[in-house]
Amino acid sequence: MLSVKTTESAPVARAEIFELRAATPADRPALLAMYATFEPRPGSLGLPPRYGLEQWLDRIQSFPNLLLWDRERVVGHGILCPQDDSAEVAVFIHQEYRGRGLGTLLLSELVQQARRMGLRRLWGMTELDNVPMLRLARSLGFVSADDPRQFYLDLDDAQGNESGERPAA
Ligand SMILES: CC(C)(COP(=O)(O)OP(=O)(O)OC[C@H]1O[C@@H](n2cnc3c(N)ncnc32)[C@H](O)[C@@H]1OP(=O)(O)O)[C@@H](O)C(=O)NCCC(=O)NCCS
Repeated sequence: MLSVKTTESAPVARAEIFELRAATPADRPALLAMYATFEPRPGSLGLPPRYGLEQWLDRIQSFPNLLLWDRERVVGHGILCPQDDSAEVAVFIHQEYRGRGLGTLLLSELVQQARRMGLRRLWGMTELDNVPMLRLARSLGFVSADDPRQFYLDLDDAQGNESGERPAA
């Protein structure tokens, strides 16, 4: 379990402790509650889906799923979809919690989990105008693929940028 305390300059004027932990079947109602009010839906290349949320969650439940909690509320969801020695990553932060580093925290943890699993490459894909996601990926060392909507990180080459540190200029 990972906890993070935001600074007092965070948009919500109260001390906040977020917890990041692996999802369990018992967390399904809280995850559905996050997606019930998630905007936009879909947010990126059809995900999270406007319809058939339960079916989507069923399809991905065998993969590593991480949930970010604000007390009893799920406010973020990260997924690692492994295939052979690589995996696709996707992160979703509820709109009330964006822009304060939580997406970076979630993707960082997915990268660390991928490394623990012995994976060699992580990749993701989003729309070209999804500036937050593309910036987030780049800040953790992901680079663009031939298809500019796609970004990838070779874990053999990565040197700890997933800690949130910026790559050297
Ligand atoms: C993409 C997403 C996960 C980012 O989450 P977040 O918690 O807001 O991200 P962070 O606060 O960690 O910021 C990540 C980067 O985006 C930038 N950013 C955040 N909001 C931004 C905005 N509205 N416009 C431009 N850049 C923005 C941040 O400055 C940061 O870049 P930097 O590291 O170069 O400073 C979130 O916007 C989201 O859930 N979007 C909808 C779903 C989606 O598109 N998921 C991607 C699936 S692959």
